[in-house]
Amino acid sequence: MRIVLVGPPGAGKGTQAHFIASHLAIPRISTGDIFRYNVANNTDLGVKAKEYMDRGDLVPDEVTVAMVRDRLAEADAKAGFLLDGFPRNVPQADTLKKMLAELDQRLTVVLELVVDEEEVVRRLSGRRTCRRCERVWHLLYDPPSQPGICDDCGGELFQRDDDKEEVIRHRLVVYSSQTSPLIAFYADEGILVGLDATGPVEEVTARALSALQPYV
Ligand code: AP5
Ligand code: ZN
Repeated sequence: MRIVLVGPPGAGKGTQAHFIASHLAIPRISTGDIFRYNVANNTDLGVKAKEYMDRGDLVPDEVTVAMVRDRLAEADAKAGFLLDGFPRNVPQADTLKKMLAELDQRLTVVLELVVDEEEVVRRLSGRRTCRRCERVWHLLYDPPSQPGICDDCGGELFQRDDDKEEVIRHRLVVYSSQTSPLIAFYADEGILVGLDATGPVEEVTARALSALQPYV
């Protein structure tokens, strides 16, 4: 299966991507995680991406697309993948379609995570991420058993630089102006499935897996 997750910042894309990808045994490809890894390791890509990420703007398409093209060419993505955070605008969606066509592939389904803005702000302001395994936690909704430490791997938890209130607000503006047009784009393609992403994480996962069932 070739799946795209779309939804506003904080909708739970990363959280659900982990569970869905492991359930379906396909790789999870998160452009946000790849950028953060490169920023943390001070690579050329990370240096290019950082200024945009810190402001909450999209990293330029040519940088992002080249990175995704390389990742999709890796062996583990041949039989399917779950994209989290890409595409992020209509030009990226057009490019993805062409990239896949060159490989004789097409997307199976696009899952839209629907959550209102107040909930998104609550989710982002309490988010903590594991430095080692990238597992996402929440101080209130999904707290680790020991403060600041990942239950899964013992890694240190940190708060993302772009989870400051003014950057969150800008990311929401960027989502509504640049990313939300993807909803109509994929509805026109006939592959959009809307998913109520409110309620406990396990309930959303169960809803997502049953929405994907017809495509497995
Ligand atoms: P990216 O990392 O993709 O950020 P985002 O889209 O803003 O999404 P988030 O990671 O903030 O949220 P999420 O939906 O994954 O929510 P999560 O599961 O963590 O991108 C970051 C930056 O990289 C961009 O701003 C841009 O600069 C750049 N970038 C990335 N891709 C790009 C692209 N294609 N083109 C250009 N630039 C790009 O959940 C949030 C919190 O809520 C967590 O604490 C979680 O525990 C909690 N939570 C989740 N589900 C629930 C639930 N059901 N109930 C209660 N709490 C929940
Ligand atoms: Zn961890």
